[in-house]
Parts: sequence; structure tokens; C-alpha cells
Amino acid sequence: MDKIIIEGGKTRLSGTVTIEGAKNAVLPLLAATILPTEGTTTLTNVPILSDVFTMNNVVRGLDVAVDFQESTNTIVVDAQGEILDEAPYEYVSQMRASIVVLGPILARNGHAKVSMPGGCTIGSRPIDLHLKGLEAMGAKITQLGGDITASGQLHGARIYMDFPSVGATQNLMMAATLADGVTVLENAAREPEIVDLAILLTKMGAKIKGAGTEVLTITGVDKLHGAEHQVVQDRIEAGTFMVAAAMTSGDVLIKDAIWEHNRPLLAKLIEMGVEAREEAEGIRIKSDLSTLKPVTVKTLPHPGFPTDMQAQFTALMAAVNGESTMIETVFENRFQHLEEMRRMGLHSEILRDTALIHGGNPLQGAPVMSTDLRASAALILTGLISEGKTVVGKLTHLDRGYYRFHEKLAQLGANIQRISED
Ligand code: UD1
Repeated sequence: MDKIIIEGGKTRLSGTVTIEGAKNAVLPLLAATILPTEGTTTLTNVPILSDVFTMNNVVRGLDVAVDFQESTNTIVVDAQGEILDEAPYEYVSQMRASIVVLGPILARNGHAKVSMPGGCTIGSRPIDLHLKGLEAMGAKITQLGGDITASGQLHGARIYMDFPSVGATQNLMMAATLADGVTVLENAAREPEIVDLAILLTKMGAKIKGAGTEVLTITGVDKLHGAEHQVVQDRIEAGTFMVAAAMTSGDVLIKDAIWEHNRPLLAKLIEMGVEAREEAEGIRIKSDLSTLKPVTVKTLPHPGFPTDMQAQFTALMAAVNGESTMIETVFENRFQHLEEMRRMGLHSEILRDTALIHGGNPLQGAPVMSTDLRASAALILTGLISEGKTVVGKLTHLDRGYYRFHEKLAQLGANIQRISED
């Protein structure tokens, strides 16, 4: 079992860091690659992450050829032959995001069977919006023995989503590309990863309007063809380094970071007193921790503050003098990292969806365990500002979403290493 060891306290990050393609973009993009019946699809700027390997296996399980050339961060998918209807439990069970293959398989084959994704530590994460949407498009859905079976020729429909779910928007958008007629998705998710998916689908021949707004209009076409697409940069990885720079009085250029995608995070950093500047190569973050002010943050669907930056931002709140407030409205159980940070001396109180963080007290390194992907990054960041040694375990979470995180931090001046303990 690998561990990350940080000698913290005096870290001041400086230099330039490069950002990978977005995990949350590439997973649905891979699901989309099973739609075209003519030509191959090439994805470039693909991050080397365990979730990507899992999704590749989900797609391969459908009898689709997937070639991941890691040296060039490129995946070529050939789905031109017949594809199977069933996504294998073995891989679907490893990753909730694999549910986004349901819409594409159903749209292409008229029948699909996908294992029900299990629970998750950050919340219950139901998939009712995915299923209700597909039903509105004419699918007959049954749930039995842990599997979801969907069948029927899909037709266009007007669908209002109770909540702008990212995964449901992606699933329904992909299903609608091959449905008969026009589908209108209202209260759709607006995340940059939705826009990235719409760009690829459009290159494949799909007719989609409104991506990035709350109303998506998709006119079904008879078939789709292969395409080439560069995965959008990872705004959450970029945001994590922005926070790391801010909390260590750093000066870091986050190369290729996109201001527009990180607007809600940047607004909060600037409100705290962090200097954030758009430069030709990316975004520069400069800060003097002693001058930063506490803030209140509320997570919301995009363009609100991203829940995937909540844990890392609480690490910054822990560093800043005074009382900050974090309100988590997207997932009901996403404060577990605060319990681990308490082991490092953090004073915080949690009342339902609200955490009060009493920041600025000296923190001490301690052995801690990652509880989920973003929590693992938050604990490592907290290690940077804690006196002495922090040992972070359960790195399988980190490897799902961060490529060589410790190496990137070390290059910026952190005293951090990763060790294997078998
Ligand atoms: C995606 C991201 C994840 C991020 C989340 C919210 C990927 C691979 N994952 O997850 O990193 O944290 O968006 O930004 O892109 N919900 C329902 N019914 C549904 C679907 C969702 O009630 O059918 C609820 C969920 O329980 C949750 C909220 O909606 O409370 C947001 O979920 P959703 O936007 O669907 O997140 P994911 O697509 O799973």
C-alpha cells in the first residue's frame, strides 16, 4: 500500500505546474465513443488515471476495441462492429461514472443492461433522473438483481430535470443523439465537461444546441461517425493547485488553466485577498497567507462553486486566520476530510450541510486516511502547512483523479514523497 509523506510547515510553493486533461470530461467522452458506427474516434490529452483505465475496460467489455497509447495520451476507439448490450459488473461496480454508458448502449442497440452503481461515501447518489429521462424517451426500464435493463426505440421528449445532474445530462444527451425526433432537456447541467461532450458529439454528426446553458436541444440523427477530439483541461486539478499556492503564500503559474472554467473558485480566492492573474500561458496565483481573510462558500452546480473543490478549499480555510464557513449543498456527506483534519489540530464544527472552520491555528502533521478522491488532495494540502510529518494513506482515491500529484508538488518546492509499503 502506497503512502504519501509530507514534511510540512515552511512550504512556499513556487514555479510552474502543468495540468492534465479532465477526468470528468474524458469518462463521458469515452462513453460517447461507442456511438459511431462508421470510423474510429481519437481522444487526445487523455490523463493517465485509474478511472480512465476502468472506463476503458467498461467499453472493451462491450466488444469495442480501445487502444490507449499512454506515451502520447491518446485513445483510439473502434466501435464499428456489433457491440454488446451488457456492461460488465466487474468494472461498472468499480466506478459510479460508468453509468453513463447506459444511454449510448440503449440508443445504439435498442437494449442495454448495466449494473446498478453502488453507494458512495460522499452521499447516496441515486440515478433516478437518468432513468426517468430515458423512460420519457420511450425506454422500458426494469431493475432486478442489481441490474438495470432498458429497452425500446428512443424518441424525442421534453424533459425537465429536478436537479441539474451532470451524469444524467450526459446520459440523456448521448441517448438523444440517435433518438427519433427532438429532445429538449430543461434544467440541464452546465459544467464545462458537458460542453466538451457536446463538442465531440457534434463532431460525430450529432445536432445539439444550447450546451453550457440550462436548455439543451438535441435533434436525433440516423447515425454518427468517428471524430478526433482534444480533452478539455482539468479545472479541478487546476483549482487544487490554485488553492495549494494560496495557502502556502506561494507564487505559481498554473499552465493552460482556463479562467472561465474556474470563475467561481477564483472569485472566492480574490475575495480572500489572493492575487489571481490571467497570463498568456495560464493563471498565476500569488498570495501572502498572513493577509488573507476568511470567507463563506456555498457549493452549487456550475457556474456555482464546485463541490469537487470543497475539500481542498476547506484546507485553505484552515490556514487562513479567522472563522470561515463552508456550505455543501450538492452531496449530503462530504465533510469526512474535516474529521481527518481534526487529527492534525483543526478546529471545526459541522451542523448538517454547514461546516464552521476556525482557521489559523497551528496544525501538526499526523497519519491520516483519504476518504474519497478530493479529500485525499485536501489532506495532502493540509500536510503542507502542518508542522512535522503527515502520512496520507489509501492513495487509491488520489490515483483515480490526480496524475503524479506528489511529483508536481515536489517540483513546486514541497517536501513530499511517495513510498510503497507491501
Ligand atoms: C459528477 C462528477 C463529480 C461531481 C458531481 C457534481 C463525473 C464523473 N463526476 O458526478 O465529480 O462531484 O458531478 O458536480 O463527472 N442526483 C439525483 N438523482 C440522479 C442523479 C443525481 O438525485 O439521478 C443527485 C446526486 O445524489 C447529487 C447531485 O444530484 O446529490 C449531483 O449529482 P450529479 O450531478 O449527477 O453528479 P455525478 O454526475 O454523479
